[in-house]
Amino acid sequence: MNNPWDNRERLERLLASGREVWFPRPPILLALALGEGASVADVGAGSGYLVEELALAVGVAGRVWAIDPSPQARAILTERFQNEAHRQVVVCEGTAAATGLADHSADGMVWMAIYHELLHAAPGGQELSQSLAEARRVLVPGGRLVIGDWRPVPTDVGPPLRERVEAAEAVRAAADAGFSKVSASNLSDAVWLVTAEAPA
Ligand SMILES: C[S@@+](CC[C@H](N)C(=O)[O-])C[C@H]1O[C@@H](n2cnc3c(N)ncnc32)[C@H](O)[C@@H]1O
Repeated sequence: MNNPWDNRERLERLLASGREVWFPRPPILLALALGEGASVADVGAGSGYLVEELALAVGVAGRVWAIDPSPQARAILTERFQNEAHRQVVVCEGTAAATGLADHSADGMVWMAIYHELLHAAPGGQELSQSLAEARRVLVPGGRLVIGDWRPVPTDVGPPLRERVEAAEAVRAAADAGFSKVSASNLSDAVWLVTAEAPA
């Protein structure tokens, strides 16, 4: 797999404090609606931008799977989170289409800044459809998939404009994959958030 994110410097830049302007964490956590003891998969977790907040939300009785195909990402995640203070965090190798998680094992799943990568990874959006099917398999009925990604508007950071899509594209893809209660909102001026529920 040719993964341009298998690069420590790039991954560490995702933790810069200015990132909060585009990807504020509180609305992402609110959309996931996780309670104490819940389980959540951060798919394409990168260097773990969301992991601390997810761990706090589910508490020590919960579970956070920080999943990424990049060895560099998993090395950073291990350094940051494989310790006594984060017992609920498990770092795993996997992709959105093959998470390695059991059927109906997660109350929530988050895809942050990976939607455009999944959409363009294979012809015809095949990787994306397989990833949505995998999310449905892994989520409990009613479990939430929360997706955030860049709008096609110029910004000084983020992926090339040609790779970005509007939230409507993700809303349509999630609905086509059988998710229910699919809704979209703006996370910031340049980033959308789509929330969808796995059907019963
Ligand atoms: C832009 S980074 C986002 C990281 C993190 N979600 C964040 O918001 O900071 C994209 C991440 O997706 C991972 N990735 C690449 N291909 C993937 C795939 N098929 N499934 C899941 N993650 C993937 C990369 O290794 C990288 O860590």
